[in-house]
Amino acid sequence: MLTSNLQSLIANHRLPTTDQAHALPNRPRRLRQNATFRAMVRETHLAPDDFIYPLFVVHGQGVKNEIRSMPGIYQWSPDLLVREAETIAALGIPAVLLFGIPEAKDPIGLENFAPNGIVQQATRLIKEAAPELRVITDVCLCEYTDHGHCGILNHGDQPHLPEGYVLNDETLAVLVKVAVSHAEAGVDMVAPSGMIDGMVAAIRASLDSAGFDHLPILSYSTKYASGFYGPFREAAQGAPKFGDRKTHQMDPANAREARRETALDVAEGADLLMVKPALSYLDIIRQTRDQFPELPLVAYNVSGEYAMVKAAAANGWLDEERVALEILTSIKRAGADLIITYHAKDAARWLR
Ligand code: PBG
Repeated sequence: MLTSNLQSLIANHRLPTTDQAHALPNRPRRLRQNATFRAMVRETHLAPDDFIYPLFVVHGQGVKNEIRSMPGIYQWSPDLLVREAETIAALGIPAVLLFGIPEAKDPIGLENFAPNGIVQQATRLIKEAAPELRVITDVCLCEYTDHGHCGILNHGDQPHLPEGYVLNDETLAVLVKVAVSHAEAGVDMVAPSGMIDGMVAAIRASLDSAGFDHLPILSYSTKYASGFYGPFREAAQGAPKFGDRKTHQMDPANAREARRETALDVAEGADLLMVKPALSYLDIIRQTRDQFPELPLVAYNVSGEYAMVKAAAANGWLDEERVALEILTSIKRAGADLIITYHAKDAARWLR
């Protein structure tokens, strides 16, 4: 029953009465009227086991350096990383993605495949402390090279290519050494991120011949040359000293090319696919899900996407929990099975 006040308001404004409106069989709001109904018809569910948490590891003892542009994210020394790994596992997060910051950098990135490199050390310690937590490692050169590029650079060796160009097959030779070195340290999965042609095939062949044919490859199959990696380059200290990554990472304008990259990585033996970044590329996540529905799909909710939420929340402009969970839900709804996200620990707590 409407109050007389409301009735006269409706009459004054000539709004249709309930009589005129009653012939409306489709009323989607029926299923939104209470929280129980909404939960019963919810299509997408987030859970802590959807997440992979990135970790940055540095040399030293007792180091816990907050990344200025990524509040709540730290560079850890191995001793402290172990306790952090236990916390992550206790939250129900199944896996971490390790990035190493070496003691010294050089043109090839020798520590990247050193048996006692920072990632190799961290892997052994984490596997000891939290054996159920799966360790995935980034396989790329940029954090280890003094020039900050993801490969071996041309210095006149290939006169038909520009000075400083990332050489493809020369880089593959380093990437396979890194992957095998990580495997020997005990990682559970390797994740080549450089967008170097043939990286999955080369790593697969090397792992297999070194006795690691059981080790899955999570390929960064569609990785764009994105401005959203800005904060990460501070965290991992892997910013290129000159130029950019546009000769290997994809042009943000391209979607059809993503189909080609994805198909190539599947043919080369990728076990899981990835789209990165996530938020500006939800269409690519959906496209990849539909292109290869039979393969697990990972999306990387990258550093810049995290930093934007944190900055707005710190200013009181956004509700952090609500927005972060909405973003993660959208990534999953778009088709991702797993999400690499800096929000993982907070989100796991919010979802409890
Ligand atoms: C390369 C790598 C990058 C990221 C993950 N792996 C940086 C780049 O390609 O420049 C970015 C991740 C992020 O922004 O969160 N090793």
